[in-house]
Amino acid sequence: MARSVVILGTQWGDEGKGKIVDLLAHEADAVVRFQGGHNAGHTLLVDDRKTVLHLIPSGILTDRARCLIGNGVVISPQALITEIEGLEKAGIEVRGKLGLSGACPVILGSHVALDQARERRRGKKAIGTTGRGIGPVYEDKASRLGIRIADLVDPARVEDKLGAVLDYHNFLLTEYYASDPVDAHRVAEDAARLGAELKPMLCDVTEELHRLRARGGAILFEGAQGSLLDIDHGTYPFVTSSNTTIGGVMTGAGVSPADIDYVLGITKAYTTRVGSGPLPTELDDEIGRRIAERGVEFGATTGRPRRCGWIDAVALRRMVQVNGITGLCVTKLDVLDGLDEVRICTAYEGVDTFPLGAEDWARVEPVYESVSGWQGDTRGITDAARLPGAARAYLERLETLVGAPVHMLSTGPEREANVMIRHPYHGD
Ligand code: IMP
Repeated sequence: MARSVVILGTQWGDEGKGKIVDLLAHEADAVVRFQGGHNAGHTLLVDDRKTVLHLIPSGILTDRARCLIGNGVVISPQALITEIEGLEKAGIEVRGKLGLSGACPVILGSHVALDQARERRRGKKAIGTTGRGIGPVYEDKASRLGIRIADLVDPARVEDKLGAVLDYHNFLLTEYYASDPVDAHRVAEDAARLGAELKPMLCDVTEELHRLRARGGAILFEGAQGSLLDIDHGTYPFVTSSNTTIGGVMTGAGVSPADIDYVLGITKAYTTRVGSGPLPTELDDEIGRRIAERGVEFGATTGRPRRCGWIDAVALRRMVQVNGITGLCVTKLDVLDGLDEVRICTAYEGVDTFPLGAEDWARVEPVYESVSGWQGDTRGITDAARLPGAARAYLERLETLVGAPVHMLSTGPEREANVMIRHPYHGD
C-alpha cells in the first residue's frame, strides 16, 4: 500500500490536477507543494463553490491534512497573505494548518517588474509568462543573491540583503530595460510587515515529512504546472523556471526517491497549452474550437484562452519515462464525446530524437493514428463498465503507446465524478 503519492501534470499544465489532489488529500496527513509559485492555478469545485488556489496546497479544504510549502516553492508574501485571507473569508481555517519552509525564495515587486519588462523586450518572442516574477526569482536563487522567507522575519538581515538585491534590480530595470525603478523603501517596509505575519507558519518542512513517514503517515506531493514546462525536460525556452518533473519533489521538499511509493501522472484526453511555444498537435480549426468551448479552456491564473489539440502520445511517453509514472489519470474525456473520430499523435516526422529545444520542436510534424469516436455521454460516469466501447478502446490504445496504465478517469469537475480503476493509496 502506498503511503507517499506524487501528483504531476504530464503535459503543459492545466491537466486538472487540483481536483485530483483535493480528492486524494482526504486520504493524506500532509499535502505538499514543492516547486513553482503563484503562477499555478488549481481550480476546485466543492459543493458548487469554485475555489482557485495559487500557492496554498489543495489539501486546505480538508479537515485532516497538514498543508506544507517546501523550499522549492517561490513565495510572494503578499500573494500568500491575500490567498489566506480569501480562504478565511470563506470560513476556511488556514493558519493553523499551513507550514512554510524558511528556505523558500521570496518574490519581490522588483522580480515582477523584471519579468514584465523582459517579456516586453522580447516582443514577438515573448514566452507568455504569467508575469508573476517566477523566472527572475529563480535566477536570483541560482545566483545566490536571493532573499529567503527566513530572512524576512529578521529585520536586520533583511535590510542588509534587500539593499544589495534592490540595487541590482533597479540598475537592470532602469539601465537595461529603460523601465521605472521600484521604491526600495516601500519594498523593505512591506517585507518586514509581511514577514512578521508569516513568521508563525514557518517550520522545518523536511523534518515534518520524515517524521510523518516514520509514523506511517500518508503524504501527497502536489505538482504545479506540467512536465513539458520543466526547465530541463520541457520545450525550452518556452518553459517555467522550476523542475516540474519528479526530481523537483526531492530537491523542493527534502525527501529521497525511496520516500516515494506512487507517481500519478495527470493528462487530459487531449492537449492544451497557455502562453507561447511549441504545441505540435495544435488544432486551428472547428474541432480545436469545439474542444476549447466544451472544455472551457481558459487559464485559471490569467484568464487567457488555452490553445487546444489532439493528445500527443510521443511527448506523453517521454514524460511517463522521465517521471516514472506508476499510473495515469485521464481527465476531461467527456470533452471528446460525440466526435466521429479521435486522433492520437504517435510519431514526429522531421526529427529522429526527442526534440531538445524550440528550434527542434518547430520542425516537428505530427503523425496521427485515427481511432473511432464515441456517441455516448461519458460525463459524470463513475463505473468503467459504463464507458462506451470506443472510449475504452481509445484509452487502451493510449496505455500501449505511452507505456503506463490508466488508473483513474476524471469525468467532470465535481469531486465525485471519477472512475477509480486503481486507487493510488489503496490499490495493490
Ligand atoms: P512563468 O511560470 O510565469 O514564468 O511562465 C512560463 C510559462 O509557463 C508560460 O508559458 C506560462 O503560461 C506557463 N505556466 C506557468 N504556470 C502555469 C500553470 O499553472 N498552468 C499552465 N501554464 C503555466
